[in-house]
Amino acid sequence: MSAAADKPPQNEPPRPERRPRVFSGIQPSGTLHLGNYLGAVKNWVAMQDTHDCLYCAVDLHAITVRQQRAELRRNTIDLVNLFLASGVDPERSIVFVQSHVPAHTELMWILNTITYMGELRRMTQFKDKTAGAEGESIAVGIFDYPVLMAADILLYRADAVPVGEDQKQHVELTRDVAERFNKAFGKAFVVPEPIIRTEGARVMSLDDPAKKMSKSAGSENSYVAVMDAPDVIRRKIRRAVTDSGTEVRGGPDKPALSNLLDIYSAFSGDPLDEIVRRYEGKGYADLKADLGEVVVSALAPIQVRIRELEADTSYTLNALHVGAERAEAIAARTLAKVRERVGLVPRP
Ligand code: TYM
Repeated sequence: MSAAADKPPQNEPPRPERRPRVFSGIQPSGTLHLGNYLGAVKNWVAMQDTHDCLYCAVDLHAITVRQQRAELRRNTIDLVNLFLASGVDPERSIVFVQSHVPAHTELMWILNTITYMGELRRMTQFKDKTAGAEGESIAVGIFDYPVLMAADILLYRADAVPVGEDQKQHVELTRDVAERFNKAFGKAFVVPEPIIRTEGARVMSLDDPAKKMSKSAGSENSYVAVMDAPDVIRRKIRRAVTDSGTEVRGGPDKPALSNLLDIYSAFSGDPLDEIVRRYEGKGYADLKADLGEVVVSALAPIQVRIRELEADTSYTLNALHVGAERAEAIAARTLAKVRERVGLVPRP
């Protein structure tokens, strides 16, 4: 590489002291819930103080499941509004929509050539999503989904990837693919580390603590949506299933209580043992009533800000415009290096 090629392009912000870089994404594929907020966005906000951050609405991942056109558009903007309303600052972080930067799909193609079918077949999420389906009716995009995710992360030479527990395997695959490329073609990628927080890493369904809280969950009572009204939040938490016994504590024999205590701790910042101590001699109903208030008051300012952003879309659209330009500038450098390593002739 020449010295000139190593210089950042003009619109990539200068990085005098390099802070570690993070990349993370969420699919705009339905109702946003506490799992997305606690497992992802809340941590993203805090990381802005210590990292250079890129946060992405991964719409190309979302279309691996059939979406309604108008709904996909709305969900994408709603998701970006959640990022911004929660405290992701588009002046400090790069906030963008995946499909606005075509380099993601180009790098994905190149990574497809060094990723093995066996690796993708072993992905738990692939197995879950296709359980019972015949190969004839499984879209290639579902199978190939983790390679697009690897491209997302590697394009930005991210050092770390904050995700919930369910995405850890995909980040591990990303590491394997990055190492394989670097070894075969010469170093082009940073090998990223997953960052999984312990509280909120896996928020479980309120009506079945064996399943994770999910936007595709059948029942409305299984999740608290970020935009749920206060009374709805209180009701859903009051109706959450509990374990046998009466004692408020966590543990493997108390999966439902463990989940409620985790949510409590993640929102309040109080350590689990302190919360448990507070409920000595009290019952499940007391915990649920207080947790309802904790969640309502934590979500209230976010809901207010989301409504403001919805009323005037210019702030969000401008953030996405600037974000795509800044992301593209970084992505272009990585892609140029990758093309050179692979032996693709530069466009004259
Ligand atoms: P997605 O859209 O399913 O979820 C987004 C983030 O939310 C976390 N999450 C949860 N955390 C705790 N408890 C839950 N119940 C829960 N449900 C979801 C997920 O772990 C994730 O961090 N493939 C990714 C999106 C993606 C991505 C990336 C992430 C695409 N490219 C690059 C990081 C880096 C996904 O489907 O997440």
